[in-house]
Amino acid sequence: MVHLFLDLFFAGIDTTSNTIEWTMAELLRNPGKLDKARKELCQVMGKDEAIEESNISKLPYLQAVVKETLRLHPPAPLSIPRKCDENVNISGFNVPKKCTNTSQFMGHGKRSNHMGKFKYVQA
Ligand code: HEM
Repeated sequence: MVHLFLDLFFAGIDTTSNTIEWTMAELLRNPGKLDKARKELCQVMGKDEAIEESNISKLPYLQAVVKETLRLHPPAPLSIPRKCDENVNISGFNVPKKCTNTSQFMGHGKRSNHMGKFKYVQA
């Protein structure tokens, strides 16, 4: 139980609140996208209905907005370090046995060939 709460407090709170804050900031900087997201919500949900998790699959534009926010502002920019059990080759790079490696999510998101079609700003 203690570890469950530690996960919630240390891994779950700052990540989620930062993502919500950045999403709101990016939408305010991009009023056209805010308008589109709002229209999708009104069409799919109606004005007075509360959003449930089960509604998310019907809101592809909102999903794209959140994914683009995570690409530009990943709250956890690095992966948890991992150690190889054996020598491996990943995308042409030799990684020796016992080598500790960390993936840099922020870098992946900024590479043009990893970007989706939706963008706040045309890169
Ligand atoms: C926007 C929200 C979140 C983001 C961007 C995020 C991001 C990440 C990332 C990048 C990792 C490292 C993954 C890896 O290296 O394999 C991670 C691990 C983890 N996250 Fe999150 N996280 C989010 C929300 C949460 C929430 C809500 C919880 C719990 C309630 C949580 C619990 C964990 C735990 C327990 C790990 C470690 C997993 C492991 O040991 O393999 N995260 N998260």
